[in-house]
Amino acid sequence: MQPQFANRLDKALSSIRKYTDFAPNIALITGTGLAGLLRDIEVENTIAYGDIDGFPVSTAPSHKGELIFGHIGDTKIAAQNGRFHLYEGWSGEDIVLPVYVMAKLGAVSYLTTNAAGALNETYRVGDIMMIEDHLNFLGIHPLAGQNDENLGPRFPDMSRAYDPDLRKLAIKVAKKLQIEVQSGIYAAVHGPEFETSAERRFLRSSGGDAVGMSTVPEVIAANHAGMKVLGFSAITNQATGGEDQQPDTLEEVLQNADVAAADIRRIILEMIKDGCLK
Ligand code: HPA
Repeated sequence: MQPQFANRLDKALSSIRKYTDFAPNIALITGTGLAGLLRDIEVENTIAYGDIDGFPVSTAPSHKGELIFGHIGDTKIAAQNGRFHLYEGWSGEDIVLPVYVMAKLGAVSYLTTNAAGALNETYRVGDIMMIEDHLNFLGIHPLAGQNDENLGPRFPDMSRAYDPDLRKLAIKVAKKLQIEVQSGIYAAVHGPEFETSAERRFLRSSGGDAVGMSTVPEVIAANHAGMKVLGFSAITNQATGGEDQQPDTLEEVLQNADVAAADIRRIILEMIKDGCLK
């Protein structure tokens, strides 16, 4: 990281403190087409990214660009409605700035969602996949450069990047709600182009079950910052790269994200109500 990152983080935190002294339990980030997940939050405060010193601004479709502070029952949630992607031209540091903001505000759990294509041939559009682990094919590493020990260790452990206890609880809650949930590996690529069929076959043979253009920088940073991560992918399109590969469109992604979002929302809500996600 650049030596100026700590200063940038301080400025962002000071901007937020002008509006609220909110201390979240959970940080939530909504992926493409998944803003519906925010509907359960009783909002106390909303801050546009543009009003936060040093924050990037959202340019991706369906990513609104605001921080939402509120609660579900007794659980306090700070949500990033709109994420930043490498394909928009943002750097790794831009993308992870909000993650460190959340950690410094007090969040201990980091809940991430995204839209993803299915590399796994057994997955169906509309499925949800709990992220078991990830593959970083982004070509960048958000912690490269100088390490700031106040943010986290130089060589953070990633052997449990997605918290095993939270994953178990999510599966249990999904069963209780009779929601079928896949459990798989998320492969992150740079974008903005959808992958070629050859790339998709390569990603699948490398162990990927779903492919997307986000999430991994934030999850690396969340682990660096000591937060526990839980992640879900909404399977929005088939991405197996086989003979029957359909052309990909944003419209398809947005439409199908909506279907899967409903199930992700129910699982998250139930976990919070149960008190097992806090
Ligand atoms: N590839 C990359 N990102 C995506 C996809 C995909 O097939 N679907 C949704 N986001």
